Amino acid sequence: MGREFLEVFEEWASTYDEAVTGHDPQYRDVFEGYDTILKEVAQLAEGTVMEFGVGTGNLTEKVLAKGLPVIGIEPSDPMRELAKEKLPQLDLYEGDFLEFPLPNKPVNTIISTYAFHHLTKAEKNKAVAKFYSLLANGGRVVFADTVYENEQAEQQIKQEAHELGYHDLLEDLNREYYPQLEEIRELFEQNGFHFEAKKRNKFVWLFVAEKFEEE
Ligand SMILES: C[S@@+](CC[C@H](N)C(=O)[O-])C[C@H]1O[C@@H](n2cnc3c(N)ncnc32)[C@H](O)[C@@H]1O
Repeated sequence: MGREFLEVFEEWASTYDEAVTGHDPQYRDVFEGYDTILKEVAQLAEGTVMEFGVGTGNLTEKVLAKGLPVIGIEPSDPMRELAKEKLPQLDLYEGDFLEFPLPNKPVNTIISTYAFHHLTKAEKNKAVAKFYSLLANGGRVVFADTVYENEQAEQQIKQEAHELGYHDLLEDLNREYYPQLEEIRELFEQNGFHFEAKKRNKFVWLFVAEKFEEE
């Protein structure tokens, strides 16, 4: 579920690693500091890690390099093939944020970069409730994705894309489900998490949601 944008990735997979280097001016700001953002997410991962929307495995690679076990979930066939080529040792499964094979051990960290915005608000809510039940006590979600700081920031970003003639970017911003910060905070807090977020570039925020210890 939440796979409505999968066709984009069927086409994009083979050139995705080039896109993240910022060669396309329309997406340069989105991917500004991409490697540093992924490193920060990887640094915050502990214990058994589950990753959603693995893509070509760029974040996964950094977590595996720390010696942590990663269970990877990715719905796109070409993306999974590329990740498997790069990381043959990875436990990688076909699935998405809402439907995936259940791990047979407690998960300590759930990670994802540049992927959560593919879900509608209702789907995000379902996914966050699932994260809560998947995580061991004290576990956390560490995500980086495009989030608007508030309504004014959303309008300003869209206006700038329009003025610069960045039509692909603008279409993408209007088509997919990029949330405002308060919406994402509420989703996590209402599902029992303590939530913190930090801005990492014009588009991307890093957010950490800790599961409250159950009594
Ligand atoms: C922009 S790429 C990000 C890939 C990688 N995480 C990175 O940071 O480079 C988005 C990824 O999310 C995946 N995706 C799309 N819809 C998804 C869903 N509903 N659940 C999980 N992953 C999804 C896509 O197939 C794609 O691999």
